[in-house]
Amino acid sequence: MTRPPLLIAAGAAALLAGCGSSPRALPGASADRGHADIVQIGCGACHQISGVDGAEGRVGPSLVDFSARHYIAGGRLTNTPSNAVRWIMSPQQILPGGVMPDLGVDSAAAADIVAYLYGQ
Ligand code: HEC
Repeated sequence: MTRPPLLIAAGAAALLAGCGSSPRALPGASADRGHADIVQIGCGACHQISGVDGAEGRVGPSLVDFSARHYIAGGRLTNTPSNAVRWIMSPQQILPGGVMPDLGVDSAAAADIVAYLYGQ
């Protein structure tokens, strides 16, 4: 399956959307696949996520209002698609020793997950 690298696609979307806006589009991402990944990986053990059975975890912040958040990861990153993807792929790189473990999520799956989180 071919898909453009996410960061380049997000950059192109930013150009199209104009300066100063924060595009929430994730070209090629599927919120349906993201939902399946969230269930399979078990993000709900640590997070509240709407529309995911049993996702009532209180270890991490609730992700119910994720799209309205301006900053994520303890204020270290602005809430853009590419930053959210980066965080989900490698939280330990951004917040070494933090509670959220690296879960082996690849960039395509992370984009799908972010598409779900923004759309819930
Ligand atoms: C072992 C518990 C745990 C698991 C499993 C876990 N997380 Fe987290 N997550 C956390 C914690 C704790 C934070 C808060 C990090 C901080 O800011 O200190 C966090 C932060 C986040 C954030 C940033 C939220 C914000 O407002 O800062 C996102 C998005 C996120 N997690 C998504 C996921 C996804 C998607 C999965 C599954 C692939 C997942 N997490 C699995 C514990 C977990």
